[in-house]
Amino acid sequence: MNDADPLKIGIAGLGTVGASTLRYLVDENARIAARSGRGLMVTAIVARDRAKDRGVDTSGMRWFDDPVAMAKDDGIDIYIELIGGADGVAKASVEAALSAGKPVITANKALLAHHGAALAKLAEDTPGASLHFEAAVAGGIPAVKALREGLAGNGVTRVSGILNGTCNYILTEMEETGAAFGDVLLDAQKLGYAETDPTADVGGFDAAHKLAIMAAIAFGRQIDFAGVEIEGIEAVSAEDIVAAADMGYRIRLIGMAERTTKGVSQRMRPCLTPTDSPLGAIEGVTNAVMLEGDAIGATVLTGPGAGGGPTASAVLADIVDVARGNTPPTFGIACADLSPAGDGVDTGDEGAFYLRVTLDDRPGTLAEIAAALGEEGVSIHRMRQHDHVGNAAPVTIVTHACELTAITKAKERIAALPASVAPPVSMRIVES
Ligand SMILES: NC(=O)c1ccc[n+]([C@@H]2O[C@H](COP(=O)([O-])OP(=O)(O)OC[C@H]3O[C@@H](n4cnc5c(N)ncnc54)[C@H](OP(=O)(O)O)[C@@H]3O)[C@@H](O)[C@H]2O)c1
Repeated sequence: MNDADPLKIGIAGLGTVGASTLRYLVDENARIAARSGRGLMVTAIVARDRAKDRGVDTSGMRWFDDPVAMAKDDGIDIYIELIGGADGVAKASVEAALSAGKPVITANKALLAHHGAALAKLAEDTPGASLHFEAAVAGGIPAVKALREGLAGNGVTRVSGILNGTCNYILTEMEETGAAFGDVLLDAQKLGYAETDPTADVGGFDAAHKLAIMAAIAFGRQIDFAGVEIEGIEAVSAEDIVAAADMGYRIRLIGMAERTTKGVSQRMRPCLTPTDSPLGAIEGVTNAVMLEGDAIGATVLTGPGAGGGPTASAVLADIVDVARGNTPPTFGIACADLSPAGDGVDTGDEGAFYLRVTLDDRPGTLAEIAAALGEEGVSIHRMRQHDHVGNAAPVTIVTHACELTAITKAKERIAALPASVAPPVSMRIVES
């Protein structure tokens, strides 16, 4: 492509994100082009249904039926993939565009989480090609740029965040209404905040895709989605939300990738965090990303993690980057310098834990619990007994820092005690 000519853009997918991106590129063209330092022109588009109104005049644009054909076409300089899906036509078209030496912009976190390593290598090995994905992590929040460019001089120690608006909305509603997970999910589906099949969201998988992408950049290692330990919010009970609140905590689905003494751990799971902490304060569909490094200490970015406008904002930023010739290595360093993925190594997990046990209401049972915890080297920081439900006495415990393995073993011991009338529940506490 000739830098003096307008950048010819092809957009694949004209749904929530694609149509919004297209509208900004048409309606705000002069402003965005000025920032880019060169003209920008959408020359080609592809979606399934030609008849659908996209809210913008597309008459001057070439309509393709096949994203792969558009990706390879000489009439576009840059390919924007906003179709979705880890495989299929999204993957095939991104590969085609990269192989043809074109910059590619995508919002597709599933594609990157599963195939990011191979796509980054293809981009690096092909003159002219590059891969950009600001929109794939936390929607409108510029998390990728903050991490890859803004914190480039830091030794990153931890990346954490609330990365799925649907889950945060459900947990916030459970907190505010006292309703059970299933009831709130049904309402969220009716309101359009949750998909008909909510598994990707409430199961933690969508957020885990984003965490794996951030961890690759943060720690300069091969993207390792398989190495993310994932637990969704389906088992979070209204009871735990109340017990957590009683001790000054909120339950949030927190993704955390951190350097431990054993390696890099990546975990997506419901955690307790203080109500007034940066992540605990996040309510509703809002997302938050907390980045910690040796030089900066910590910085927190919050904002909309989804939606047409916010996600288009991130896609547009990548377009401006490409137009300016700002094409850093996909994950921040050359592919050959990325350290290998963890390959299932136990990375350890040490911290304070919340534990809820339900005991038969008779003398001496608390001592049995304390003994079971002591046997596994878990010491109690705080303990609270709640109102009896029939003959069952719920007790919540906050431990001092200990290994997850110790908590797991202590729970097994407690579950086996005659005094224990329901399986114990535990969650990690994230203090900051
Ligand atoms: N929505 C968000 O808030 C958000 C936020 C961050 C990232 N993302 C990511 O952005 C991507 C797009 O999401 P979205 O919400 O915009 O999806 P969407 O609304 O479902 O739009 C998908 C688009 O792809 C088109 N499409 C599907 N299959 C196709 C095929 N085989 N050939 C050509 N076009 C095809 C559809 O065409 P028709 O319109 O004709 O059906 C539609 O325009 C996904 O990777 C998603 O994970 C979305």
